[in-house]
Amino acid sequence: MKQMKLGVVGCGNISDAYLRGGANSKIVAVKSVTDINPDSAKTKAETHGVSAVTYDEMLADPDVQIIINLTVPQAHAEISKLALQAGKHVYSEKPFAVTFSEAQELVRVADDRKLRIGSAPDTFLGAGHQTVRKLIDEGRIGTVTGGAVTFATPGMEMWHPNPFFFFQKGGGPVLDIGCYPITQLVNCLGPVRSVVAHASKGQEKRTITSDLHKGEQVTVEVPTTVNGILDFANGANVSFTASWDIWKHQRKPIELYGTEGSILNPDPNFFGGAVKISARNGDWEAIDISTQPFGKPNQPAGEGREVANYRMAGVYDMAAAINSGRSHRANGGLALHVLEIMESLERASSENRRIYTETSCERPATVPQGEGEEVFLAE
Ligand SMILES: NC(=O)c1ccc[n+]([C@@H]2O[C@H](COP(=O)([O-])OP(=O)(O)OC[C@H]3O[C@@H](n4cnc5c(N)ncnc54)[C@H](O)[C@@H]3O)[C@@H](O)[C@H]2O)c1
Repeated sequence: MKQMKLGVVGCGNISDAYLRGGANSKIVAVKSVTDINPDSAKTKAETHGVSAVTYDEMLADPDVQIIINLTVPQAHAEISKLALQAGKHVYSEKPFAVTFSEAQELVRVADDRKLRIGSAPDTFLGAGHQTVRKLIDEGRIGTVTGGAVTFATPGMEMWHPNPFFFFQKGGGPVLDIGCYPITQLVNCLGPVRSVVAHASKGQEKRTITSDLHKGEQVTVEVPTTVNGILDFANGANVSFTASWDIWKHQRKPIELYGTEGSILNPDPNFFGGAVKISARNGDWEAIDISTQPFGKPNQPAGEGREVANYRMAGVYDMAAAINSGRSHRANGGLALHVLEIMESLERASSENRRIYTETSCERPATVPQGEGEEVFLAE
């Protein structure tokens, strides 16, 4: 297929991962970048050999077919809507939007115009998570009856250069990181029927310790610890913890429990990792993930460790899907359902009741075995 040209909006921390992913692809190529702060766009454009433009210029460029929205969460819906109204397909970083109603509107606008809309997380396309999906589909742990999710760290103010947005409306650990395990669970188990939850705030104000804003305080507007239960339509009963109030723990990112055994699912913030399975209460057995794409470690993660980070895989899939006319995996229907689940967790707590979801979605197709982005071209 002919390489599809991308325009990147938002030249902050995560943009390098996308610009690197775009530089080595046969399916897509970044043509231009833009930012509300033109100096940020200029710097990224020079580093990655693309052009820096205004957003209006990007939207008016007929070569640009997909807009990649890497702005802060609070700007996602507005930037994505402008792109759709200009006739561009959109792929957004997570969260898809900060409210369910904004996300519903985006899906409506995309559908009306017959444009594609996609959203991170795309980590579920990675080798670790696809391997888990296949083990479940093969019935290796029987019927999945339950599970446990833990995404817990001390916070973001100690490493992110601009941590303010994480603690404002539209931030918080559920919207920021909960989307990773929830998307992987929906990929494996299907849609969620209802949720209950209790949410709390560990601190009213936090002091930033990362360099740029060191010593400044940020007021916390959102709950920073949420414990909930996800009741899946297939009957699975999964406990869910997302927190920025925890220094240290020993819980696994995702455990899945079935009538015939259990599975340990690796960290859904990355693409690879160790997959383990037990037959009933037998020993844990390590499962090889190397036959799936997007699993080899490719990014240093400190202390000599490496992780697999293939952010852009969802865009490769979306571009190849537009070309062949099939549906793409990290799609608006999935992102909308995941966002509704996340918003429902906070509402279940603030309204002190069980919330039933309005939306549902199909499980995305599994990723074929093979190497790299090419797997999406063969479909
Ligand atoms: N940093 C990470 O490791 C990471 C990982 C995965 C996903 N994300 C997600 O990616 C998004 C961006 O995160 P980040 O860490 O790069 O944030 P960031 O604050 O470093 O960068 C955001 C950029 O968007 C620009 N921007 C804001 N509003 C804009 C607008 N209206 N128009 C044009 N540009 C605008 C800002 O000037 C900034 O350069 C967030 O939604 C975040 O949740 C980040």
